[in-house]
Amino acid sequence: MNCIVVADQNWAIGCEGGLLFSLPTDMKRFRSLTIDGTVILGRKTLDSFPGGRPLPRRRNIVITRRVDFDREGCEIVSSPEAALEAAAGTEEEALWIIGGGSVYTALLPKCRRAFVTRVDAAAPQADTFFPNLDKLPGWEVEAVSEPVTENGVTYRFVDYVNTKL
Ligand SMILES: NC(=O)c1ccc[n+]([C@@H]2O[C@H](COP(=O)([O-])OP(=O)(O)OC[C@H]3O[C@@H](n4cnc5c(N)ncnc54)[C@H](OP(=O)(O)O)[C@@H]3O)[C@@H](O)[C@H]2O)c1
Repeated sequence: MNCIVVADQNWAIGCEGGLLFSLPTDMKRFRSLTIDGTVILGRKTLDSFPGGRPLPRRRNIVITRRVDFDREGCEIVSSPEAALEAAAGTEEEALWIIGGGSVYTALLPKCRRAFVTRVDAAAPQADTFFPNLDKLPGWEVEAVSEPVTENGVTYRFVDYVNTKL
């Protein structure tokens, strides 16, 4: 499976339950990579989507400790391990960890690739972070895109591979 994330210079990914940047080209890429696949996400990330609704045209597996949690269009599981069990049999390329911070941290070691949209800016108010892949043993950069500039920020698509898997 793979994970996909937008991170700033300091690997920050979120603030007060929301995203740090609005990047339309990145959103299109996220959609085209994950469409028709399976996404695994934490309950807080689900709540950050418009109307708290799951992503359309994708199987949404949501992790929560709340035993009574229910949301239309979502499969609810009680742990990251249970999410992987629910997704067993899914084609590796079609299984995506999409956040947030706690779910990335839990499942990153099991990801083969990390598709990181790396923003050349710092969001000092951020409160949620992704592990620093440049310092994590086993993770190597496989490809870096040309820069994209949008809404006043420049970013690149940086693909990492987990050489430990
Ligand atoms: N930049 C990006 O690409 C990106 C992507 C996704 C999200 N984000 C941002 O990340 C932030 C959210 O991240 P977050 O870490 O605060 O929340 P999160 O990972 O989305 O969700 C956390 C929730 O997931 C459940 N959970 C997590 N670990 C669990 C475990 N081991 N067992 C059972 N349930 C577990 C719990 O739900 P309950 O509280 O219901 O028990 C927990 O409160 C937001 O700011 C969001 O916008 C950024």
